[in-house]
Amino acid sequence: MNLVLLGPPGAGKGTQAAKIIEKYGIPHISTGDIFRSNIKEGTPLGKKAKEYMDKGELVPDSLVIEIATDRLDRDDCREGFLLDGFPRTVTQAKALDDHLAVKDKKIDHVLDIKVEKEELISRLTGRRVCRNCGATYHAVNIPPKEEGICDICGGELYQRADDNRETVENRIEVYKSQTAPLINYYEKQGNIKHFDGSIGLENLFAEITGLLG
Ligand code: AP5
Ligand code: MG
Ligand code: ZN
Repeated sequence: MNLVLLGPPGAGKGTQAAKIIEKYGIPHISTGDIFRSNIKEGTPLGKKAKEYMDKGELVPDSLVIEIATDRLDRDDCREGFLLDGFPRTVTQAKALDDHLAVKDKKIDHVLDIKVEKEELISRLTGRRVCRNCGATYHAVNIPPKEEGICDICGGELYQRADDNRETVENRIEVYKSQTAPLINYYEKQGNIKHFDGSIGLENLFAEITGLLG
């Protein structure tokens, strides 16, 4: 099962990914998470990526493609994978298809999640993430039992550096101009399914599992 999660920032890709990988036992590959862990560790890759991420711009294709395809070559991806936030440009999508074709593989389903702009802004500016385990909450929609503390591991919750209103608005614009063209790209391949991301996280998960079986 080779899956791609597509959708604007705040659509709920990471939230659904956590549930999908638990149910289907495939690895979750988020290029954003890979960059953030490199930033945390202070690696050269992290330093480079941070310049773009802080402004809400895309990290250059060449850098992202290498990281994503290396990750896909690891053993745990043999039975399937869930890509979250990659591909994000048509160049990345073509590179992914080429990389998989060499191994006689393809993307089985692209799950496209749609949410209105104002809702995206309120989700992202209210998002809180666990510093320890990465679990995602929302100050209002999906609050932790105790403010500032992760339900799962007791870790500290923080706000992502790019979750301020100005950067969020730019990320949404970047999505429209550079990532939304992928919808048409996968429409031509016939493997994309569209989901309304505003129906609540459990309802959305039920629709996704309805498709995946
Ligand atoms: P990345 O980390 O991928 O961020 P993103 O695409 O902007 O998406 P988000 O993680 O913000 O949103 P999400 O859809 O995962 O939403 P979530 O589930 O958390 O990328 C960050 C940056 O890295 C990019 O800007 C770029 O610079 C760089 N980058 C990464 N990949 C790249 C690539 N391939 N090419 C180039 N650059 C790349 O949910 C959001 C909030 O909503 C949470 O608070 C959650 O609790 C809440 N929520 C979720 N679902 C629901 C629901 N159904 N109802 C109500 N609230 C909900
Ligand atoms: Mg995410
Ligand atoms: Zn945690």
